[in-house]
Amino acid sequence: MQTIKLHNGVEMPQEGFGVFQVSDLKVCEQAVSEAIATGYRLIDTASSYRNEMAVGDAVRKSGVSRGDLFVTSKAFINEMGYEHTKEAFQRTLGNLCFDYLDLYLIHMPFGDYYGAWRAMEELYKEGRIRAIGVSNFQSDRIIDICYTAEIKPMVNQLELHPFYQREDELAILREYGIVPQAWAPFAEGMNGMFTNPVLKNIAERHGKTVAQIILRWNVQRGVSVIPKSVHQSRMEENLGIWDFELSAEDMRLISTLDLSHPLMLDPRKPSEVHRLFNYLDNPVLTSL
Ligand SMILES: NC(=O)c1ccc[n+]([C@@H]2O[C@H](COP(=O)([O-])OP(=O)(O)OC[C@H]3O[C@@H](n4cnc5c(N)ncnc54)[C@H](OP(=O)(O)O)[C@@H]3O)[C@@H](O)[C@H]2O)c1
Repeated sequence: MQTIKLHNGVEMPQEGFGVFQVSDLKVCEQAVSEAIATGYRLIDTASSYRNEMAVGDAVRKSGVSRGDLFVTSKAFINEMGYEHTKEAFQRTLGNLCFDYLDLYLIHMPFGDYYGAWRAMEELYKEGRIRAIGVSNFQSDRIIDICYTAEIKPMVNQLELHPFYQREDELAILREYGIVPQAWAPFAEGMNGMFTNPVLKNIAERHGKTVAQIILRWNVQRGVSVIPKSVHQSRMEENLGIWDFELSAEDMRLISTLDLSHPLMLDPRKPSEVHRLFNYLDNPVLTSL
């Protein structure tokens, strides 16, 4: 598995496995076990997914040494603030039954995330987290935190797929040495992602699937990807992106698909902010 070096020198697998909306703990443990057996070495969870326990169980039973795996979790908006984040981290570590975490992210730029960041900086310096980062931070929030924090984020996890390419934001992340990581790399299939004629045509020419073209396009632009699937055949398919290369013309064709707006989550939209805060009272995992 190809890795990307974070700005603190930690090597992160460029492709990983996400477990959002796998809320049944048995299904989640099985999926993570299969993903690890298939070859994934990065697992992406979050306290709000309520499946950290299953991820920890799968990791422990995998037979792969903990040091060869890279596990990410995230502090949600109700876990922001210096004290709350310290407690949240302990809870996450307890759920996973780990003594350290590889990557801890601020899930959304809401609430007292500066207090949260100070707690994360301390935990990082104490060696309890190997890398710290953010998620859903648009460029203004990235620049602000880079000016004010002692330690710059190492990763920004964002909605990134052919219909929302965010090239201008990627350029700013590059400037600060922050690795972009694509959540919902398939936009969960929305907008006809898997049947898009441009993507299908490129896939046919390479003897690959549309899913593989989408993931390969993102990794070729320096993005880390964390596709989710509960089907082992798709887990294998999604890992089969390391034996071919898209041409400059393929990349150009894919660039024409950009709609320049999110399909999944717009953290700037007032109704979305209400929805995220209301989610805390009504924790049905739908489309965070
Ligand atoms: N930071 C954040 O705010 C945030 C938000 C959302 C997600 N995430 C992370 O990003 C990960 C990925 O995002 P996501 O799960 O929302 O969406 P996604 O990876 O874009 O799409 C997952 C969907 O695509 C299907 N799928 C997977 N591989 C496929 C293939 N090769 N062919 C056809 N269909 C395929 C899956 O179905 P099956 O499972 O039935 O195969 C599932 O319905 C999450 O699991 C989570 O870890 C982070």
